[in-house]
Amino acid sequence: MMSPTPEPCPFSFCLLLLLAISCLLSCFMRLLEAHRKKAHDRSSDKDTKLRLEVLCYHAVRYQKKRMEASRKSFWEVLSTRSSCRYFTSEPVRDDDITEILRAAKCAPSAGNLQAWRVFVLERKDLLTKLGKAAHDQNWIQTAGAVLVFCADWELSQQKYGKRGKRLFSIQDATIACTYAQLACDTLGLGACWVGAFNEPAVASILETPNRKFRPVALLVVGKPPQNKLRRSHRLEKAELLKTEDWRRTRPNNSAGIYSESEFPYDWKGDIAETIWKGGKPTKPIKP
Ligand SMILES: Cc1cc2nc3c(=O)[nH]c(=O)nc-3n(C[C@H](O)[C@H](O)[C@H](O)COP(=O)(O)O)c2cc1C
Repeated sequence: MMSPTPEPCPFSFCLLLLLAISCLLSCFMRLLEAHRKKAHDRSSDKDTKLRLEVLCYHAVRYQKKRMEASRKSFWEVLSTRSSCRYFTSEPVRDDDITEILRAAKCAPSAGNLQAWRVFVLERKDLLTKLGKAAHDQNWIQTAGAVLVFCADWELSQQKYGKRGKRLFSIQDATIACTYAQLACDTLGLGACWVGAFNEPAVASILETPNRKFRPVALLVVGKPPQNKLRRSHRLEKAELLKTEDWRRTRPNNSAGIYSESEFPYDWKGDIAETIWKGGKPTKPIKP
């Protein structure tokens, strides 16, 4: 006798149905979540892109403004700069010294020899000594640093002879010092050029080997006080500028105005040729 097939239990059927529905629901929820996430990612990508574009726009505008400002500040620096001989006790930061030297390095030089070297002194005892060597300009010891610009005259002499030794190397050093002084003002530092000093005394403070470097200018640098420095007087353009009219009005007999004996290192012969042609001298240049 066959046993009758059991009647399907309505309870287990409902259970199975519920299980299937919940599985479907959870799959649907997962799909929905994945879709939502994708949509969110896409919109946040858009946001990031937009934000980047806005950032770039502002960066370009800022850079443009900065360039305009720096162009203005070049003239500002030229027209407002003045020598500073009073300083606060704040030291000069290393990165400011680096910036000053970066500016000095931009200076032109004869034959691009860069026949100048600079010594940076910050120790108080050395600054005091420098002040003494500068004919007792004792205010120098209150500075944060002194940059001693020297002519590497041997280097210039090798190529340009006497003119290199006695003029070009000095010019190289002074132009570099000028650039450095302007950089000081740009950086908000005070600076004063000091040229009145005893050369051997300064050279001995630097302990330069065999008088190799000739001290040409001291650039005394420090933090300026708050009160504004007074701009010193300048000659009128008419006094500085000699136009072609001046040639017509000068005395006919101009002999003796430019005396060879007064300026014995003038421009002539091999040296001039070497410089213009950029080659090597045909005859050795006498030092
Ligand atoms: C070659 C040279 C030498 C100088 N020597 C000294 C100096 O020994 N002591 C000093 O206090 N100032 C010195 N000065 C700074 C000048 O006195 C100063 O530049 C000038 O009076 C113009 O003033 P300003 O720099 O404020 O425009 C010197 C400047 C130059 C260019």
